[in-house]
Amino acid sequence: MSKNYKIAVVNGDGIGEEIVPAGISVIEAVAKKYGFTISKENFSWGAGHYLKHGEFMPENGIETLKSFDAIYFGAVGLPEVDDTLPAKDYTFKVRTDLEQYVNYRPVKLFAGIESPLRDKTENDIDFVIIRENNEGEFVQNGKILYPDTPNGVAVDTSMVTRLGVERIAHYAFKLARKRRKKLTNVTKSNTLIYSLGFWDHVMEEVSKEYPDVAYSKMYVDNASASFVLRPEVFDVIVTTNMIGDILSDLGGAIMGSLGLGGSGNINPENNYPSMFEPIHGSAPDIAGQNIANPIGQIWSAAIMLEHLGEIEAANDIMKGINATTAKGDLTKDLKGSATTTEIAQSVIDSILTLEKANAIG
Ligand SMILES: NC(=O)c1ccc[n+]([C@@H]2O[C@H](COP(=O)([O-])OP(=O)(O)OC[C@H]3O[C@@H](n4cnc5c(N)ncnc54)[C@H](O)[C@@H]3O)[C@@H](O)[C@H]2O)c1
Repeated sequence: MSKNYKIAVVNGDGIGEEIVPAGISVIEAVAKKYGFTISKENFSWGAGHYLKHGEFMPENGIETLKSFDAIYFGAVGLPEVDDTLPAKDYTFKVRTDLEQYVNYRPVKLFAGIESPLRDKTENDIDFVIIRENNEGEFVQNGKILYPDTPNGVAVDTSMVTRLGVERIAHYAFKLARKRRKKLTNVTKSNTLIYSLGFWDHVMEEVSKEYPDVAYSKMYVDNASASFVLRPEVFDVIVTTNMIGDILSDLGGAIMGSLGLGGSGNINPENNYPSMFEPIHGSAPDIAGQNIANPIGQIWSAAIMLEHLGEIEAANDIMKGINATTAKGDLTKDLKGSATTTEIAQSVIDSILTLEKANAIG
């Protein structure tokens, strides 16, 4: 009997309405090729839902998601809705409540795309950012008092736990073992001496269990410069929630466009479904025109299928993306003129011309 996966589909807002269906069309093509099926259910959650119903998702939304094998998500947020809500009421909520403590964000230069980094090639830009996804700077633990008075005061408290650092460290070291065996811990522990000092201390302890992985520490200011000047030094990066958030946009930029980056919010133990989404937001400035780059969303589909165990299908998607960019099928953000739907179709066409991975070994 063929395998069936239950996927919760959350387009979200803005370009999510265009790139998620584009990604689904690729998933369906590859599923047909490899003989598995997808049962999808669409949820119209996000800022648009908030405008109509006063909430980003229904109260039982998290419970509803628990019955799925994975969540395929676009992005949430609209200019007319308070922008403190999308993370609090949807993205962070799902990531935290479903213990998706790993944010897996690969950075890679595809064939045919010119990086803004002069002289850097596909061999130089190929690394993964592992961002801690449940705690750190983004726990939203704080207070504002008397904001409109001379006594105004605001506090945000970061949270770092031993369990939180140990689990992300093990994930990152194991991933490095499967790649080029190099892990860079990016922090700012020379100034955030308590929270990130403790992070480094635990990271160092865990590193002893992986003597085969070359472990080093780098401060985020140096790491930012190194992304631009010498990206080839990175293989796997492990970092905190906020540093990972910022560095992954820089990663998107050196790939050539923010629209290219895919990601997974992963619960490695599979106690809950994981959620797969591009690294960018809902891009309201270009929504509704069929010009958004769907590659980050399509790449997220590959990461999702890999997580579900459909390795060959995931590899096919990656080859399909590479073939598409290599032949110059590019959207406007990459100085091309292809539409969102044309890029998805081009990826599908490439996948269908590839031989089945298992047939060619
Ligand atoms: N995970 C999420 O749901 C998430 C993440 C980031 C931002 N947001 C929300 O998205 C909204 C817009 O935020 P922003 O403007 O800061 O960031 P953004 O990532 O949406 O857009 C930044 C710039 O990149 C461009 N861009 C992004 N994705 C693209 C794509 N696929 N193809 C071509 N160009 C693309 C946009 O046009 C824009 O110029 C806000 O409401 C924000 O809160 C949501």
